[in-house]
Amino acid sequence: MNRFDDKVVLVTGAGSGFGRAIAMRMSSEGAQVMVADLARENGESVVEEITNAGGNAAFQTVDVSRADQVEKMVEACIETYGRLDVLVNNAGYSHQAAAMWKLTEEQFVGVFEVNVKGVFLGCKYAIPKMIDQGGGAIVNTASIAAVSPRPGLTPYNASKGAVLTMTRGLALETARHNIRVNCVNPVASDTDFMKGAMGVQDRLSEDQVETFIKTIPRGRLLEPDDVAAAVCFLASDDADMITGTALNVDGGRSV
Ligand SMILES: NC(=O)c1ccc[n+]([C@@H]2O[C@H](COP(=O)([O-])OP(=O)(O)OC[C@H]3O[C@@H](n4cnc5c(N)ncnc54)[C@H](O)[C@@H]3O)[C@@H](O)[C@H]2O)c1
Repeated sequence: MNRFDDKVVLVTGAGSGFGRAIAMRMSSEGAQVMVADLARENGESVVEEITNAGGNAAFQTVDVSRADQVEKMVEACIETYGRLDVLVNNAGYSHQAAAMWKLTEEQFVGVFEVNVKGVFLGCKYAIPKMIDQGGGAIVNTASIAAVSPRPGLTPYNASKGAVLTMTRGLALETARHNIRVNCVNPVASDTDFMKGAMGVQDRLSEDQVETFIKTIPRGRLLEPDDVAAAVCFLASDDADMITGTALNVDGGRSV
C-alpha cells in the first residue's frame, strides 16, 4: 500500500523545479496527478515522464493569478479524476534581487498576484470540493525567507510571509471540515527560480553557490527532491495530526 494510492493530487507550478519533483514523487507513491503550470511544454513533458514511469497524470494550463483559470483548473481535475484530495499551491516566482525602493510598482504587484493571490484562488476553488467530499490536505510552498529574510528580495519575502500566515489561519478555518493546511519553507535551490531572482542565464555560478552554501549549516543547496519529500509527508496521512505548520526545509539556515 502506497501513501497516495487512490488519492488525486493537483500541483501548481508542476512544470519544473520543486513542482515537478513533487508531482513525480506523489505519482511514484500512487497518486493520480493533475500537473498545472503556465508553461505548457514543460507541464506536458512532466506528464510524459510520469506516464512513461507507469503513473497516471494529466496537464492543465493555468495562470494561478487568474480566477477564471484557477476555477477551470480545479474543475478539470474533478472532471478527469472525479475528486481532489491534495492541493499543492507551489507556483511562484520572484522579482530580480534589488533594494526594495528600487523596484517598480509592477514588480511588487506581479509577485503578490502570483505568490499570494494564487494561493488564495487555489484554496478558494479547491476547498468547497474538499468539504463536499469529506476532507483533504493543502500544502503551500512558502520560503525560509518568510521567517528569516535577507536583503534584496523584500517584496518576494513578504509575499511568502503572507503565504505562511494564510496557511496558519486557513488551518483553523478548515480543521472542522477534515482539511489540513500546511506549508514548507525551502532554502535556496538552483532551479529556474534563480533566473528571475538572481538574473542568472542558466544555473548559479560556483561563486553564487558557495555564497548560498555558507549560510546553510547542512553544507549544500536544497534539491527539489528534498522539498518533494517534505510536501509528501505533510500531504499524507502520516501527518494526520499536523495542521497550520510551516516545515523548514532549510538545512539549518534559520536556526
Ligand atoms: N528555488 C528556490 O531557491 C526557492 C526557495 C524557496 C521557495 N521557492 C518557491 O518554490 C516554488 C517553486 O519554485 P522553483 O524553485 O521550483 O522554481 P521554478 O521556476 O523551477 O518553478 C516554478 C514553476 O511555477 C510556474 N509558474 C510561475 N508563475 C506561474 C503562474 N502565474 N501560474 C502558473 N504557474 C506559474 C513556472 O512556469 C514554473 O514551472 C515557488 O513558489 C518559489 O517561490 C523557491
